[in-house]
Amino acid sequence: VLVNTLATTQLAHAAKPHSISYYNRTSFPSDFLFGTASAAYQYEGAAFEYGRGPSIWDNFTHQWPNSSSNLTFAEKTNGENGDVATDFYHRYKGDTQIMKFLGMNAFRFSISWSRIIPTGKLKDGVNPKGILFYKNLIDDIIAKGMVPMATLFHWDLPQGLEDAYGGFLSSKVVADFADFADLCYKHFGDRVKYWITLNEPWTFCWQGYDIGTLAPGRCSAWMNRNCTGGNSGTEPYIVGHNMLLSHAAAVKVYRDRYQVAKSCNIKSSSSSSSSSSSSSSSSPSSSFNSFIFLVVRSQPSNQALEKYQKGKIGITLVSHWFIPYHNTTADSDAARRAIDFMFMTPIHYGHYPKIMQKNVGSRLPSFTAAETVIVNGLNYYTSNYAADVSYVNPVNLSFSTDNHANLTTHRDGVSIGIPEGVNDFYVYPQGLTDLLLYIMTKYQNPTVYITENGMGQVDVHEVEKGVNDPQRAVFYADHLKAVETAMNSLIFGTNPASHDRGGANVKGYIAWSFSDNFEWSAGYNPRFGIVYIDYKKNLTRHLKRSAYWFKKFLLA
Ligand code: NOJ
Repeated sequence: VLVNTLATTQLAHAAKPHSISYYNRTSFPSDFLFGTASAAYQYEGAAFEYGRGPSIWDNFTHQWPNSSSNLTFAEKTNGENGDVATDFYHRYKGDTQIMKFLGMNAFRFSISWSRIIPTGKLKDGVNPKGILFYKNLIDDIIAKGMVPMATLFHWDLPQGLEDAYGGFLSSKVVADFADFADLCYKHFGDRVKYWITLNEPWTFCWQGYDIGTLAPGRCSAWMNRNCTGGNSGTEPYIVGHNMLLSHAAAVKVYRDRYQVAKSCNIKSSSSSSSSSSSSSSSSPSSSFNSFIFLVVRSQPSNQALEKYQKGKIGITLVSHWFIPYHNTTADSDAARRAIDFMFMTPIHYGHYPKIMQKNVGSRLPSFTAAETVIVNGLNYYTSNYAADVSYVNPVNLSFSTDNHANLTTHRDGVSIGIPEGVNDFYVYPQGLTDLLLYIMTKYQNPTVYITENGMGQVDVHEVEKGVNDPQRAVFYADHLKAVETAMNSLIFGTNPASHDRGGANVKGYIAWSFSDNFEWSAGYNPRFGIVYIDYKKNLTRHLKRSAYWFKKFLLA
């Protein structure tokens, strides 16, 4: 009932920025993380330098199209690629200096798997220059007073693994990902205390294996590219399943080898039923154990005693918020189904939701053993209307349509929010409050970090125009307010055990993005940064108004 009420609640879009004088950093807990996010392929450049191996994104941007395509990748992206990107690889010290200047206390970046393991397979060898790059970057982030938050997989799978066994289409990827994760914990875990295993698996499945707009670009209808050995009704689920298992394997390695508290280790070694939740609930280290999903029960090794790293590990999921198109039960159910298909339930409960099992049937793999603890990274950008689809043609089954919900950005000709002109995103801050409250009520109020939230603009090619972005400042003001509203919503009454404000248990807010960057198949045209990159003049950085808004907000 609560959920349906929330779903149908629509408040007017906030139009003005909230005054910094009464609404600022002090409206949030003092240990709250504020930062910006990046991703290796979108930022680093140096794509073929310093021993980095190729990833599926190098392949996608350089070798596409193959002869069977009738629409070239170049037509879609102006032939752009991440070869140089923002040249973060060489300029990161200047960028972290800007973050410090703005008052940020966190920075999210991703580690390019093929930069540190060029073929993707650990046994083929490690690239010491890659390790050194991330060591230096992490040291620098910390030296600037920020917390490093590292994502292990932000879509740039080593091409070697795609060639060897089809990448995430094969369960062989699980062991290779666990090895990669282990290497990262080993080299960086003494200083990285926030690990994100995977970024937006749902998007990777949908756009990589259903509509084909992200690497490896399979099953794409718009590129007339048929996938071999599968179709868009099966491959995305296989990939999604292998991603969830990879996440679980990486969490297990962390927990077994690096995360176990000394006191827990001693206690659990005498108990055969030790588990992440039981050991965490009563121990002072409970918060360190909280990002866990699908943890197979096991005893920590003695090595764990030496390697205790005290970090948190989780996954970043994307979710839109969905509003029923009509005020009917059928459309409310459609809105719920749309969320249920975005991988939250398997992360929280270790099994797919019933509706997914029903609609996808034998195309959906199943988990064998599962154990869960609930903490997540959440990326939020926009909301949609959802209407029930009563008839689905069994011949055209696909990942996009299995939720039996027709998702739209307009209702009766009126848009859900202000259009951005990028990715069909419309600005709708209320959706973030509603989504957080939904997660809070459905999944027992997990700890949540907003790991991305932001807006893009297109066709801005001049510095003067680019830095003048009051819409983005309003966007951030409104969405931070939306987060704060969710944190202060006394849905369960007073004093829920885990949290001091009574509402959603949000611990951090990371904006997408630090600077403009390579927006995947849309190239460099969409700009998501609070810092403008002058692509015409030596990639010079210019602070936008939204960056100064953050500075005021954080340092007021
Ligand atoms: C989510 C992705 O994680 C990020 O890489 C992308 O640039 C933003 N969405 C904007 O589309």
